[in-house]
Amino acid sequence: MIDSFERFPFCLPSVRALDNLPLHPKVTYFIGENGSGKSTLLEAIAVSLGFNAEGGGKNFSFGTRRSHSVLHEYLRVAKGFRRARDGYFLRAESFFNVATEIENLDKEPFGGPPIINHYGGLSLHEQSHGESFMALLTKRFGGQGLYLLDEPEAALSPQRQLAALARIHTLVEDDSQFIIATHSPILMAYPDARIYQFGEDGITELQYRDTEHYQVTRAFLANPEGMIRTLFDDKD
Ligand SMILES: Nc1ncnc2c1ncn2[C@@H]1O[C@H](COP(=O)(O)OP(=O)(O)O)[C@@H](O)[C@H]1O
Ligand SMILES: [Mg+2]
Repeated sequence: MIDSFERFPFCLPSVRALDNLPLHPKVTYFIGENGSGKSTLLEAIAVSLGFNAEGGGKNFSFGTRRSHSVLHEYLRVAKGFRRARDGYFLRAESFFNVATEIENLDKEPFGGPPIINHYGGLSLHEQSHGESFMALLTKRFGGQGLYLLDEPEAALSPQRQLAALARIHTLVEDDSQFIIATHSPILMAYPDARIYQFGEDGITELQYRDTEHYQVTRAFLANPEGMIRTLFDDKD
């Protein structure tokens, strides 16, 4: 039973309206304004699937931040007939902590090869944010997996976003499934996907070209000077 729709997370329109949210077998996107509940839902899905709320693979169990919301207790994530062999929950804001955790674990080896080997062998702290994210995507993600990514674009140049899309495609072809919260009109362009927009009216499905991200970016790039002028004039 939900005790109050006034309290977080049930106060969020997207969470309140949540009933049945069919995930695309390949890629599902969560888009919408800041604060609309994308991370809250992604985290709840992750926790209910057995991932650490802080991020990482399923064997990570460290915690350095505030506790996660109770939403996972109210979710039932229906699993398909395929069993995911691999999995990862990436929280952009705590990837740094995951990198630290890997270094700490590798300081006290437990017999097997160092964990960092799964990420290409180079300390994630000694690479740029974008490089370490690409190492995660190309080295650590091994296919037949479920990958939950929260705003991965922060680290990535446009070229790298394209490279990330190509890598996502390769992993999808190898029976992987992605759920990605993003603001990037490039990253959200995977063709075989479902886009859910979180907003005041709950969660709505949209086509790629109908998203604000696509339309605003397109209008802006078609006429940056004109758009800037209008924007600045409005302020006067
Ligand atoms: N632990 C929490 N307690 C109370 N409010 C929270 C908590 N975590 C997030 N919120 C609020 O819930 C809203 C949705 O947050 P979030 O899911 O992070 O949004 P998004 O990822 O879509 O930007 C925000 O207004 C945020 O301030
Ligand atoms: Mg978020």
